[in-house]
Amino acid sequence: MARITVNDLKAMKRRGEKIIMLTAYDYPTARLLDEAGVPVLLVGDSLGMVVLGYETTLPVTMEEMLHHVKAVVRGTRRAHVVADMPFLSYQTGPEDALRNAGRFLKEGGAQSVKLEGGAEVAPIVRRLVDAGIPVMGHLGLTPQSIHKFGGYRVQGKTRETAAKLLGDALALEEAGAYAIVLETVPAPLARAITQRLKIPTIGIGAGPWCDGQVQVVHDILGLYPDMQPKHAKRYADLGEAIRQAASSYIREVQEGVFPGPEHSHPMDEGVLAEVLGLAATS
Ligand code: KIV
Repeated sequence: MARITVNDLKAMKRRGEKIIMLTAYDYPTARLLDEAGVPVLLVGDSLGMVVLGYETTLPVTMEEMLHHVKAVVRGTRRAHVVADMPFLSYQTGPEDALRNAGRFLKEGGAQSVKLEGGAEVAPIVRRLVDAGIPVMGHLGLTPQSIHKFGGYRVQGKTRETAAKLLGDALALEEAGAYAIVLETVPAPLARAITQRLKIPTIGIGAGPWCDGQVQVVHDILGLYPDMQPKHAKRYADLGEAIRQAASSYIREVQEGVFPGPEHSHPMDEGVLAEVLGLAATS
């Protein structure tokens, strides 16, 4: 089965077909999402918060990202796997960016990378694209700049910030990005940017008019207890299912209900009696 490519994603925009993206961080989840038909899986640096328990995405390292990228790639056959470049793996310059992005494709097996920022990272995007590495941009409420924003706030509401976001999107397209994530920006601005770009926009908290949507899988499955963003809809409550399953397990072990005969391995009683010296050996 052929993997989805960046050209397939660009063609989806031309056909007006919605691009579906979810995050994934491990083999079993990636496998389930791939089998369900999710075409793009992002190994987001959000894993720092929802999997590793950091307060922000800033502490995430290249080694942590690679570990999870490899697991997601092993779990997929058709999905396009995007590896998120962690804080300071690319902001320090095009050569660092190239070395680190290259590791995601070469060692991790990802098909493209994502990085945050606008016109200021355009030369880095250009360098990676020239080296054959497809790049997804990320604008708006970019979590690696959380300390600059001073909190998780909607971006692009004023004349200046909206104009800057549009300019940044055009700069990323010009630099060769194949798609752009728009995070927590007003829906009408996301629509205008989507209409101005030839490459797809993928929204999260950016309204319904983007070319695609992305969500953090833990948010839509009820698996992250610390925060439920306004933009996330809960499609399942696996957190509650896990709590209930754990309670049942505790109770059944305490009451001697589990393990039952169907979970245990029998043995020839005569052999055991011999081992214990309770029967004569032949
Ligand atoms: O890290 C991540 O999960 C992301 C998405 C929210 C787009 O960047």
